[in-house]
Amino acid sequence: MKLQGFDMDFPVMLAPMAGITDMPYRRICKMMGCDLTYTEMVSAKGLFYEGRRTKSLLCTAVEERPCAVQIFGSEPGLMAEMARRLTCEHKSELVLIDINMGCPAPKITGNGEGCALMRSPALASRIIEAVSKSSCLPVTVKFRKGWDEGSVNALEFARVAEESGAAAVAVHGRTRSQMYSGKADWDIIGEVKAALSIPVIGNGDVFSGFDAVELRRKTNCDAVMVARGARGNPWIFGEIKAALAGVEFKRPSDAERIDMAILHTCQMEAHIGAHAAAVMRKHIAFYVNGIPGAAKLRREVNACKTVKELVDSLKSYKARSANTP
Ligand SMILES: Cc1cc2nc3c(=O)[nH]c(=O)nc-3n(C[C@H](O)[C@H](O)[C@H](O)COP(=O)(O)O)c2cc1C
Repeated sequence: MKLQGFDMDFPVMLAPMAGITDMPYRRICKMMGCDLTYTEMVSAKGLFYEGRRTKSLLCTAVEERPCAVQIFGSEPGLMAEMARRLTCEHKSELVLIDINMGCPAPKITGNGEGCALMRSPALASRIIEAVSKSSCLPVTVKFRKGWDEGSVNALEFARVAEESGAAAVAVHGRTRSQMYSGKADWDIIGEVKAALSIPVIGNGDVFSGFDAVELRRKTNCDAVMVARGARGNPWIFGEIKAALAGVEFKRPSDAERIDMAILHTCQMEAHIGAHAAAVMRKHIAFYVNGIPGAAKLRREVNACKTVKELVDSLKSYKARSANTP
């Protein structure tokens, strides 16, 4: 996949996930073999008003740079101005600016943002054109199969994106009505790939190395982007790389999962301080998913008030398990 400032054969990417792809987690994914990380989606309006929370979403780790930032909004002028500012202020940290045109959340689509833009291709085109013109970094667009089964338009929408100046597109093979249910339609990703000259990033239902190999084979996409399969599972990047190279991959042990959860917790504390204890609960629920005694451990973790209590609880689980024959 070739973009200005980025050239890599079939990169494996961490998808943007609001509430999940925080900076400490992105850094861990990069360490575990991810080729490109995306920030959580950042509101262009929030950037304009310089909201503290919005600005903190832009904080990137040295180890993950250059990474991708994703913005959302519906006003071409405002988004263009924010892209200009971002590319001036964070140029050395970023490789591309992605525009979110796939978010299905009613609070976003209700404002005409995210996936709602798939119903207004003319406005989407003006946004992509304005952002591309004002950004000195490549601009990409992430969208879905369509709004609903009755209005599938990923192919036409992808052409609009390309004509408006997008340097690449990421396609999630589900409609907005599906949210995250049902199966992702990889055929639509293949159709988009066949129709465009710019790179196409395939996304949806990649939960293993095998899935990534199949997605590539079936769609001929230029890169793969993993979301839910990476939650509590940063090893998936190594697994995908191994599958692409046709070599064996050793899955992490339960003890390694706990160690990763502890590392993530410590990095989160270094990033945001005491609030890490609350923020880490959701991450830990994913790390421990499927290990023996996970429900009890989750309850213990959820009762922890401080980071120290939380780390002690994880360590004591590990010690208990080591002593269990
Ligand atoms: C918790 C969560 C948060 C998400 N946040 C974003 C987001 O901020 N921006 C975005 O473009 N997509 C977001 N998505 C969608 C994912 O990036 C991805 O397109 C979708 O989950 C399909 O990929 P998967 O099957 O690998 O999960 C989110 C998904 C989840 C589960």
